Amino acid sequence: MTATKGLEGIVAATSSISSIHDGVLCYRGINIDDLAERASFEETAYLLWNGKLPNKSELERLQRQLSDYAAVPEAVLAQMKLYPQDANTMAVLRTAVSALALYDENANDNTRESNLKKAIKLQAQIPTLVAAFARIRQGKEALAPLKGVSIAHNFLYMLTGEEPDPIAVRALDQALVLHADHELNASTFSARVTIATLSDIYSGVTSAIGTLKGPLHGGANEAVMKMLNEIGTLDQAEAYIQRKLANREKIMGFGHRVYKNGDPRAKHLQKMSRQLSALKGDSTLYDISVKVDQLVTGQKGLKPNVDFYSASVYTMLGIPGDLFTPIFAISRLSGWTAHILEQLEDNRLIRPRAEYVGATNQTYVPIELR
Ligand code: ACO
Repeated sequence: MTATKGLEGIVAATSSISSIHDGVLCYRGINIDDLAERASFEETAYLLWNGKLPNKSELERLQRQLSDYAAVPEAVLAQMKLYPQDANTMAVLRTAVSALALYDENANDNTRESNLKKAIKLQAQIPTLVAAFARIRQGKEALAPLKGVSIAHNFLYMLTGEEPDPIAVRALDQALVLHADHELNASTFSARVTIATLSDIYSGVTSAIGTLKGPLHGGANEAVMKMLNEIGTLDQAEAYIQRKLANREKIMGFGHRVYKNGDPRAKHLQKMSRQLSALKGDSTLYDISVKVDQLVTGQKGLKPNVDFYSASVYTMLGIPGDLFTPIFAISRLSGWTAHILEQLEDNRLIRPRAEYVGATNQTYVPIELR
């Protein structure tokens, strides 16, 4: 038995949800470029869960359900008020999602019908949780979700209490489409491992949130913004990157396990970042990002991944850096739950083996002799 570090190249499941072939990402066979330009996040979530795009009435029904389920139990909001105000936002989300299970009498029902309903419920509630904590930590009251608006619209409203700009809504909606699913990424894999024990959907999503939190995965978008802030001005970019590379430090937002010739999602976020900076009349962040991109691509041959330009996009939408990874979770929830449903259709416990490399032929030594 020989281990493959990081399971690189190991095919660990069959799936018909998303695919990556020759650097092209598709959801249910539809190219992500097409979806990013034309689909809403709600349509995308429906597609991931059901394997087909919704017709008009199916989409309206989903939108109604998302609106109806968006409020979270008062008890969960009350608990959030007890969390430390400076708590890590992904730790907060992980805890709050886990708590939601306690208030759902159907939490342990693993029928497809029940899990699909819970997937829609979670999709509706996660934005409410993220926005609620963002306000609670500022000493403000959480806002009740609006009815009849998109998830992107509702989230921006619940953060600020103001009607969001339609351009901001469209930008966030597109970012949600781009992050919705990504084959057997680390957090999706952990969701599948958890549900494969026949645990419950809340446990699967809680595992996934914990996995997404790390800076080698979803946490990279926040780390990118930290780097852009440290660089500060365009003229500092080159020295900063050279120093990092000379110290063999990783540049966040670059590289990918699967894409070696570039992440197909990055160009959409770069375009959005350019458009938002033109609208704002301030291209500082975009210019620094492009400079970093040129330096890292030129010197290391590493291309930006989905996280790199999303950092400047979210910042230009007025979103604080530590909400970037929770926004990723809002989007990826659709993919995680689609994979949970798929795993349960034809489930088998996921239990690989380890290559043992430790000591052998040891004997027990009584404690007084150690
Ligand atoms: N900056 C500098 N060097 C890098 C980077 C980077 N961002 N990424 C990879 N490398 C180098 C590694 O140091 C390594 O060099 P070496 O062979 O000289 O030691 C080589 O490229 C291979 O890198 P690995 O880390 O082995 O590649 P792996 O496939 O394990 O990791 C990962 C992929 C985690 C994405 C990696 O590229 C990375 O850490 N990137 C930065 C974090 C990041 O942006 N994560 C988000 C990924 S996308 C997502 O999850 C949504």
